[in-house]
Formats: sequence, C-alpha cells, structure tokens
Amino acid sequence: MSQKKATILVTGGAGYIGSHAVLALQKAGYEVIVLDNLVYGHRELVEDVLKVELVVGDISDRTLLDKLFSSRDISAVMHFAAYIAVGESVTDPAKYYRNNVTGTLTLLEAMVAAEVKQLVFSSTCAIYGMPQQVPMTEDHPLAPMSPYATSKRMVEQMLADFGSAYGLESVVFRYFNSSGANPEGLLGEDHNPETHLIPLVLLTALGKRESISIFGTDYATPDGTCLRDYIHVSDLADAHVLGLEYLLKDGKSEVFNLGNGNGFSVKQVIETARVVTGKEIKAVERERRAGDPPALVGSSDKARKILGWSPQYSDLSKIIAHAWQWHQKRHT
Ligand code: UFG
Repeated sequence: MSQKKATILVTGGAGYIGSHAVLALQKAGYEVIVLDNLVYGHRELVEDVLKVELVVGDISDRTLLDKLFSSRDISAVMHFAAYIAVGESVTDPAKYYRNNVTGTLTLLEAMVAAEVKQLVFSSTCAIYGMPQQVPMTEDHPLAPMSPYATSKRMVEQMLADFGSAYGLESVVFRYFNSSGANPEGLLGEDHNPETHLIPLVLLTALGKRESISIFGTDYATPDGTCLRDYIHVSDLADAHVLGLEYLLKDGKSEVFNLGNGNGFSVKQVIETARVVTGKEIKAVERERRAGDPPALVGSSDKARKILGWSPQYSDLSKIIAHAWQWHQKRHT
C-alpha cells in the first residue's frame, strides 16, 4: 500500500467546489478530514461517495477547532466554508459577515494557536468589481460590489495581516465562474436554492423549470448578454492541490486568479447547452440583474507560471457535458 501524505483539514468539503477538492486531494494521496456544518453541504457526498471522515460542525466553534487541531496531526487547511449567494448578501449582510468573516477569523486564530500555518483560501473574482481591463490580472483594483464579495476581500486582508504578524502562509485563489462537474459523474453542483446559470439552464433542459431567464440583452458585448469566464470545477480542484504543495514546500503567500481566459455570453451558454443536451431549452429575455458586471474574464498566467497549473477543460461544451451528466443522474 502506498504511504499516505499529510493530513489536510477541508472546511466546506461537503459543498460543490470543496467536494471536488477533497477528491483531488485523495487522488494525490493526502489524508482528508472534512469539517462542514451541513447547512448547504451534502453528507452523502462525503460519507458515501468520497468516503472520508466528516466532522459536522462550524468554523466559528473554537472549542471544536481546538479539539480537532490538538487531537489530529493536521498539516494544512483548505478553507471553502462560506455563504455564496451574492443577492442574499445584499439583503442579509449580517449573515455573510458573521459566517464568512468572523467564522474565518475564529478558524485562523485556532490555526495560529495550534501552529498550523498553511492555508489555501477560496476567494472570488467578484472582489474586482467593475472590470477596468479584460482580462483581469491579480493587480486589478479591488472594488467589491456586494457584502459577499466584501467578505472575501476582508478575509484576504486578514490573511495578509496574519501572514506578517504570525507567519501564517496562504494561497488565495480568486475563482472566475466555477462550473461543470467531476468527469466520472461522481460529484456535481447541487445548490439549494440554485442561482447559477449553467445548472439553471440544465434544470430547464430536464423539464424541472419552464424556461431560463436571460438577465439583460443590452450590455456592450457582442450579443448584448454578459460574458463570463467559465472554469471547470475539476481544474479548480487540481489548482488547490498545486497550491497546497507549493505551501508545503515553504512557498510564501500568494494570490492567484483561476479562470480560462475566455469569455462566453449567456446566449452562448444556452446555445451550447441546447447542442449538448439535444433539448430545446426555452429562454426568456428579462431586465438586467442588479450588480452584474458586463464582462468578467481573468488572466491566470500567474498560476500557470508559479504553480504549473494547466486547465484540462477549457472547452465550454465539455464543461456543460460534464454538468449535464451529473444533473441527469441527480434528477432522474
Ligand atoms: N444569468 C442569467 N440567468 C440566470 C442566472 C444567471 O442570465 O438565471 C446570468 C447572470 O446575469 C450572469 C451570468 O449568467 O451574467 C452568470 O451568472 P451566475 O449567477 O451563474 O454567476 P455570477 O457571474 O453572477 O457569479 C458567480 C458566483 C459568485 C461568484 C462569481 C465570481 O455566483 O459567487 O461567480 O466567482 F462570486
């Protein structure tokens, strides 16, 4: 039997991106402990599919964290646990600051106390706000447009300060639009409520929704609908393993974009989904959704250069085909 590598604590490992990262860590030979409060996460993904240890609890539970860090030989943390609904964060900012910011502060304090000083953190391109240039690089000014995005920016600031003061080293990943599903059909995107474009389009293809809304057709883009940089969730997961290995080899704190560098419009996504699924997929043009920048496309040259990251699935049809495979299995 091959020797297991270090033990990694994955917060939010029962969620969409976290569960894909757990799988990538397992494939790379790491021991994984998932910490998830199961408010949005899925117990069965961790226990039945990934078959790793699940600790049901909250990142803001300091007693639980202290117990975990003192009883287990944890080398590093991957921190996914967060609330992610941009619209909800506008109407209920307290929920976002309490969980995403204060919860993370508790986690970081527990890590420092336990001398676990390496962390991979899920951030978002939403912290850039309105793009001043496309593709966006990591030095683009930060101007978050929602409490959700601000909460991620605040954690990035905490990480920088914890780095200087306590020597906590972090790799921060700013994701563009995470999408797709594990190519073997084991894991996928299952938010409740669902707000993201690709799953909503596929739920329409499955007949679970009558139509997909196109939010805004008068943007200054080639077909008038918003452009986004869709990045396969398994490519994101691979980047997390590379980021972890960079830290474990004594790499210093860095921030990386993770995207494909290609913008696809809402209409292109729907059209590609029609081809992939062979279904009609009724689309209805509606008003713009508040807070949507017209185009978010990232440059990930830094991650390619420093981490050697190379996304496998830059083809939108592949991304949608993998998501379709998952949705068919999940809903039929
Ligand atoms: N859209 C529609 N109809 C829908 C849903 C979305 O037209 O029913 C459009 C949106 O207006 C946007 C695009 O499809 O132009 C993509 O929207 P998503 O909601 O799928 O994704 P966002 O770009 O808004 O945001 C996502 C995550 C955020 C994250 C951001 C950047 O929801 O958490 O990517 O990472 F911050």
